[in-house]
Amino acid sequence: MKIFLDTADYKAIEDRFSTGLIQGITTNPTLVRKSGVNYVDFIKTLANDFAFDSISAEVDGETADVMLENANQFLNINPSITIKLPLTREGLIACRSLSMSGVMTNVTLCFSAAQAIMAAKAGATYISPFVGRLNDNSISGVELVRAIAGLYGTHGVTTKILAASLRDVHHVSRCFLYGANVCTLPPAVFDKMYTHVLTDSGLAIFEKDFKEIT
Ligand code: E4P
Repeated sequence: MKIFLDTADYKAIEDRFSTGLIQGITTNPTLVRKSGVNYVDFIKTLANDFAFDSISAEVDGETADVMLENANQFLNINPSITIKLPLTREGLIACRSLSMSGVMTNVTLCFSAAQAIMAAKAGATYISPFVGRLNDNSISGVELVRAIAGLYGTHGVTTKILAASLRDVHHVSRCFLYGANVCTLPPAVFDKMYTHVLTDSGLAIFEKDFKEIT
């Protein structure tokens, strides 16, 4: 049950890494654009500064060959580098090639069980079902996670389910309950994972009582 952070904000990563509760990072072109960093330099910095199991670096390209060429810029950085590829025909071909060379892969933009089957066939290390974007379209994202976990369990598939596009703690808990191996969280959702109004009010009472007994 691993937690990754879904962000390209260095300070947000540094702050949450210090908790010891984060094992990886996912990024995407939108997050990188918003943070204004250079993508390759940012991935190099993360790999250098933190001990993560996995750092997802997304590649662009209309063909598998172009995706593989673009992946080259990340490949020699360090073994935690995980090449993130779209769930398309070309993305799957590139995934298969990288997986056969021992490179970790994350097949992203998964919206159906059929797509998750194909990612497993391509030897993906991680499959990323986008829970929030399915919910945005009135389809249950957590039910997709449950379906993939059932399929992978039945067939002994080793591809790990990396639940993505998570916007609230309820969906994170559901994803883990339904069989996700990893949930990637925006920093604000990570912070809410350990917060509860009853913990806060209970602690206020205990602190007051501590003062009276010490
Ligand atoms: C995951 O790899 C993606 O970067 C991310 O979870 C997408 O989330 P969004 O749908 O909130 O943009």
